[in-house]
Amino acid sequence: MRKILVTGALGQIGSELTTELRRIYGANNVVASGRRLKEGHEKLIESGPFEIVDITNGKELHEMVKKHNINTIINLAAILSAVGEKYPEECWNINMNGLYNVLEVAREENCMVFTPSSIAAFGPTTPPDNTPQDTIQRPTTMYGVTKVAGELLCDYYFKKFGVDTRGVRFPGLISYETLPGGGTTDYAVHIYYDALKNKRYTSFIAKGTMMDMMYMPDALDAIIQLMEADPSKLIHRNAFNVTAMSFDPEMIAGSIRKFIPEFELEYDVDPVRQAIADSWPNSLDDSAAREEWGWDPKYDLNGMTKDMLEKLKIKLGL
Ligand code: SER
Repeated sequence: MRKILVTGALGQIGSELTTELRRIYGANNVVASGRRLKEGHEKLIESGPFEIVDITNGKELHEMVKKHNINTIINLAAILSAVGEKYPEECWNINMNGLYNVLEVAREENCMVFTPSSIAAFGPTTPPDNTPQDTIQRPTTMYGVTKVAGELLCDYYFKKFGVDTRGVRFPGLISYETLPGGGTTDYAVHIYYDALKNKRYTSFIAKGTMMDMMYMPDALDAIIQLMEADPSKLIHRNAFNVTAMSFDPEMIAGSIRKFIPEFELEYDVDPVRQAIADSWPNSLDDSAAREEWGWDPKYDLNGMTKDMLEKLKIKLGL
């Protein structure tokens, strides 16, 4: 029986993953946690156990894991790329010291650990097209540095201590439930809100910038499938390339125009986030994930656009 702790449960991924995990494993077997309560998440907080936990406090984390007999930690608490460039010290502290605490508790209490990595674990010297699973990883952002170091640390805990660590390199994630917390791929979420509200969007990412992306239902499937995968089949662990699509701002605008023909796209490029995007791959090769645990995403760009616009329309009361 799984007893799961989700850190960062009120974030973009956590707010949807927690609900899905509670549906599969039972509400009382999934403890949601966050550094603080956030408005707008009352339904989630009341749908099962919720604890205030700061993962940079190892003692607090350990007590929580013992209190709830946790055997699986899904560590989603993290600072994203753009915010990480603004506050590199905090990014290191939460993403690295936090992860270290999670791994230490997992070692002592015999827990499995899932930690997401990112396309940010690659850098300007990585082959940008069809980026292989095993390749050069020399990122130039603090977020990317913490993601590569995190991958290595998770593999180390598996090899050295036998902690069952697993992870994926997520691309930009698109969802309607909770906004992302300050990443470079966020434009691909904001564009849908503005398309519905104003029929126009000003992109901070330049025309022609290709990045991998994924719709949230596929991201949730990736986490759950990898968590449940037969360990004897896993050649890799931290972390698997996964992707569902790759597009630039013009391509997502084209997809939106299939549903909102008058939609207009303008540009006001942010040099910081553009430089980050330019340092990341254009498209990932996710064949290792497909071969080792059956990764097979369901949504392409138009399928995602259709669902996003339908769901957001209801959410925004339009
Ligand atoms: N979506 C993330 C970001 O932009 C990538 O992991 O920071």
